[in-house]
Amino acid sequence: MEINKRNKNKWWKSAVIYQIYPRSFADSNKDGIGDLQGIISNLDYLENLGIDAIWLSPVCKSPQDDNGYDISDYQDIDPMFGTLEDMEELIKEAGKRNIRIIMDLVLNHSSDEHYWFREAKKSKENPYHDYYVWRDGKEGMPPNDMRAAFGGSAWEWVSEVQQYYFHQFSVKQPDLNWENPILRQEIYDMINWWTEKGVGGFRLDVIDQIAKEPDKRITNNGPRLHEFLRELSRETFQKADLVTVGETWGATTELAKLYSNPDNSELSMVFQFEHICLDQIEGKEKWDLAPLPFMKLKEVFKRWQTELYGKGWNSLFWNNHDLPRIVSRWGNDGKYRIESAKMLAILLHGMQGTPYIYQGEELGMTNASYDIEEYRDIETLNVYKERLEKGCMEEDIMRSIHAKSRDNARTPMQWNEEENAGFTEGKPWIKVNPNYKEINASQQVDDEDSIFRCYQELIRLRKSYPVFTEGDFQMLFMEDENIFAYAREDETLQLLVVCNFYDQTVSCSLEERIASMKLLISNYKDIDQSTLLRPYEARMYLRKK
Ligand code: NOJ
Repeated sequence: MEINKRNKNKWWKSAVIYQIYPRSFADSNKDGIGDLQGIISNLDYLENLGIDAIWLSPVCKSPQDDNGYDISDYQDIDPMFGTLEDMEELIKEAGKRNIRIIMDLVLNHSSDEHYWFREAKKSKENPYHDYYVWRDGKEGMPPNDMRAAFGGSAWEWVSEVQQYYFHQFSVKQPDLNWENPILRQEIYDMINWWTEKGVGGFRLDVIDQIAKEPDKRITNNGPRLHEFLRELSRETFQKADLVTVGETWGATTELAKLYSNPDNSELSMVFQFEHICLDQIEGKEKWDLAPLPFMKLKEVFKRWQTELYGKGWNSLFWNNHDLPRIVSRWGNDGKYRIESAKMLAILLHGMQGTPYIYQGEELGMTNASYDIEEYRDIETLNVYKERLEKGCMEEDIMRSIHAKSRDNARTPMQWNEEENAGFTEGKPWIKVNPNYKEINASQQVDDEDSIFRCYQELIRLRKSYPVFTEGDFQMLFMEDENIFAYAREDETLQLLVVCNFYDQTVSCSLEERIASMKLLISNYKDIDQSTLLRPYEARMYLRKK
């Protein structure tokens, strides 16, 4: 196969990617859990939206301790989702609609039920022992006090081998030892096997954590990270025309230039979280809520847009399966739900990068505020328990959970007004958001004023004008505390995006800027080129130079 040396003019630069969380998307066999056939039967909906690729959260065999991010067989499909034949059918059916399938690769850890780990814990001499990260501990205690992301110690004792293994996530997600070249080769073979099946790319789960060095307390960005990534890319991704996106919580713009270097030596793009972590108390956890510092949000976007220009590639997103719904978070899920959802979409989709739409975002789906019994997510249940034990007030814990629980994103896709929002004819694995009668796909697809139609139009526009992909970026009204505005420009076009981020009317001195510009899209019907921006008003203009 031809080696891809540079990633200029790559298809994924003008693509829009849609993320599916399979267990919550569509259930075809009435067991209450979404599956591959459910996805296949909704491909026409996605084609109509206009997306180019689907990032599929993990569907490989898994005990589902962390909803599939704990894989016990990387080369088989979990029966809950279907079979390998279903997966092949999905790749083929999506392909017919020019939609590529991006697999979620969980390479930092496996499930403790993976064959490798079951062997690894039998004895220190077992050939698989060194596939994982083991330490003897000190006087009957773990080697250090590192904590796992989902609570508790990052070390777990195994009496058969008289050692502790390292796990950055749950105890059922032992970390893989990337120092071991035999393990690395197994991983490359597995990836190449999927590539030959015709997948269009890979999303790499917590990829900046693979080069951990727990003795030095290093988790992110370990010293050998880029060496590992280059080898991984050379042995796998560069052999085909793939998109690769690295989940990198610890990325700075400098690191992102390495990960997404246009020489294609590592990955296509980063998926970084600097903007999305702003509404928490600095230095604390996401549960420690703080209001969004709007000026900081502008500064962060400006920095990423300008510093990566020509030197790297970023993802554009508000949501994924780990994040609360953006319309509830930074928009307004009451009176201005439609306006604010569209404003957030317009604001994001005018920038440089590859946009990701998370299932239901295109409908303006909202957070769910359930009682604790309705939550299913391991992280949410653990924090509830841990904080109660620490003496926190239940009311405060629930406030954090309502705002930030990952289950906000995982309630079933709202297809129509029928029972269970049309997601399943069985009993859904997690409660459907009760607002499905007001918010659902069947109502929006044919309504030209819907949020769905706004996303559809944004996707169409991105494909029509190269300025979206290639234009530079200039932040406007930087000191304004309500307005998010920017201009972009390439050789032939100028693009202008102006958004009122809040629910009060504000004035904005746009006169000269919008003169002779054409309005491409907005979220109010009666646009009169006025300089007053109504609550959450957003406009996008274009001019030929
Ligand atoms: C990041 C994934 O997005 C999240 O859902 C998962 O729990 C962790 N990585 C561990 O795999």
